[in-house]
Amino acid sequence: MNFKLSLGLIAILLLIKCTLGDHKPVSFKGCPVFDINKRVYVMQNSRLSWPPFIGGIAAHKIFTDTEFIYSMLRLHLSEEESCSLQSANGLNLMFPAAIWLPEKKMYLVVVRLFLNLTKSYLYTSFFDSDWREVITEDMVGATQVPGILPIEVYDYNVECSGPEDPRIFRFGKEIYVIYNMIDVDLRRKMFLYRFETGETWPLEIVEHTWGTAYAEKNWTPLIVDDEHLYFVYNHKNFQILDCTNSRKELCNRVSGEPYSLPAGLRGGSPYVRFGSSNYFVSLGYSHLKYKKGIDCCVFYRPTLTIAAISKNPDKFDLIFQSEPIDFQSLLIEPFTQYNSTEHIKICDAGRIMMALSIANWDYEEDVVDITLNLNDAVALAAKVTGLTDLALDVISMHENGSLYGGDDCVEKLVYRHFDFEDPEISARNSLRRRRMKKTAVDNN
Ligand SMILES: *[C@@H]1O[C@H](CO)[C@@H](O)[C@H](O)[C@H]1NC(C)=O
Ligand SMILES: *[C@@H]1O[C@H](CO)[C@@H](O)[C@H](O)[C@H]1NC(C)=O
Ligand SMILES: *[C@@H]1O[C@H](CO)[C@@H](O)[C@H](O)[C@H]1NC(C)=O
Repeated sequence: MNFKLSLGLIAILLLIKCTLGDHKPVSFKGCPVFDINKRVYVMQNSRLSWPPFIGGIAAHKIFTDTEFIYSMLRLHLSEEESCSLQSANGLNLMFPAAIWLPEKKMYLVVVRLFLNLTKSYLYTSFFDSDWREVITEDMVGATQVPGILPIEVYDYNVECSGPEDPRIFRFGKEIYVIYNMIDVDLRRKMFLYRFETGETWPLEIVEHTWGTAYAEKNWTPLIVDDEHLYFVYNHKNFQILDCTNSRKELCNRVSGEPYSLPAGLRGGSPYVRFGSSNYFVSLGYSHLKYKKGIDCCVFYRPTLTIAAISKNPDKFDLIFQSEPIDFQSLLIEPFTQYNSTEHIKICDAGRIMMALSIANWDYEEDVVDITLNLNDAVALAAKVTGLTDLALDVISMHENGSLYGGDDCVEKLVYRHFDFEDPEISARNSLRRRRMKKTAVDNN
């Protein structure tokens, strides 16, 4: 049924759901805990016959033909570079992002190629509904697929040059990619690539004209109609930009108190409309410091976020931030070296997991196709179940006014789930303990 849930059906689903039954969340420091990892998971073999199953779960690596990708990339390298890299070994694939094209019955997928750990390119290709790559040459507007997106780069000798971290989305009848890249002024900005024409341009905001330092990343598409090109600039204060006229003008801030530093919740997948409702769903990700025993690192996990959008007057509310989603079955063989979930090391191959697209949503079967980045090295597609049911629970609580939760639930719920203390709080506590000890000594 692919995104075409009728208003009637969502009303019926909500009616069925009008009591949460066993699913009433418990509250942790003012944040609802839905036990998401028991409810949302990668599907098992038994429920669906999906040919490319690996290890009994509905997930597999995509973009595995790196020699083919490398042969396409070679056309964009100088002779010298092409010779210095003898094989596709120096090629890392990260940030796969997909949308379903009903007219072609295929996924259009974009992935970042990180070459030689120095520069990036974006590669695009088609995949069929079972996530097998389809290598038939075709055009999407002016863009050749499969191929390297023809993005002009200011200077590939600058460190970390070229387009990074793409997200793909539809706006009106057209398909765009948003990515970040170092511009001619050596500032990292967000850019749009338009498939229809092959044009690219940077997205500017008034703060960029102030001469202070900045580096833009992770702006998240939030397409609510055909007239407005909205992005979540920062989930902190749920700041929304209107970039509809970004070819000629600055993007306008339309909601949310300005605050430039990112918090623990970062933009992941573009928001998709939930059925025909005014709720929009994304898989963002937490970006937090893990500190437990001797293990210490920054780690990433997908987080379900839901926004309620109303018009006239326009209102953008981030109503829900979930617990971190583990997808533990994706952190073991054959995707990582771990042979069971007990051996997963968060500060090693269990460090980076982020979802970059909700590519298709089957509401009746409660199956959602998503793409993920694992450790900036493995690009995955997975079929996930449980999201429809969970989203309906959240929405029904919101509708009757019983949903609670604050701006910092992602942080609180990550510390709860992984069972360690907020590093800042623990630093403050140890300072307080030292002070108390000192006072005690002074009093003696
Ligand atoms: C709202 O819905 C929840 C879950 O369905 C239910 O437990 C609660 O009693 C409802 N509250 C009101 C005020 O209707
Ligand atoms: C890869 O990096 C090495 C040194 O870091 C450099 O000598 C080589 O030219 C680079 N190759 C490409 C294709 O950029
Ligand atoms: C699984 O991995 C652990 C840790 O690397 C190792 O000690 C153990 O022998 C492995 N078990 C099997 C059945 O391969």
